[in-house]
Amino acid sequence: MKRILIINGPNLNLLGKREPSVYGNQSFDDFFDELQERFRETAELSYYQSNIEGEIIDKIQEVGFSIDGIILNAGAYTHTSIAIADAIKSVSVQVVEVHISNVFTREPFRHQSFLSPVVKGCIVGFGLDSYRLAIEAFL
Ligand code: DQA
Repeated sequence: MKRILIINGPNLNLLGKREPSVYGNQSFDDFFDELQERFRETAELSYYQSNIEGEIIDKIQEVGFSIDGIILNAGAYTHTSIAIADAIKSVSVQVVEVHISNVFTREPFRHQSFLSPVVKGCIVGFGLDSYRLAIEAFL
């Protein structure tokens, strides 16, 4: 069993309600139930969400030497946070960066990621399925 933590950053607690034309109609809680069912035999999944940059860093540090993988959607901090990039570099766990939307088809400020250079890989633009693909990458 691979131990994988999904970390969602700011405003991703509003999935299902927030800009449904961009991010879809499903809440993350419902989607997470489906993921857990799907990977019941291969992955021990857990989920953390915070709107606060420092809390995301604390979580990366907390699990960063003990689990098998982090799937990180840092939301808008992707485009701003050197501190989260440094946290990823500081731990031994592999991190996969995910985005629900295809950030490269959107505003230019979303084309820059401070995280992409320090993660194992990126999965971008497949809707919530981006998270499933990231889990597959760890298995
Ligand atoms: C996002 C893309 C970011 O640009 C945005 O700030 C988000 C969500 C995505 O999953 O598509 O909050 O990370």
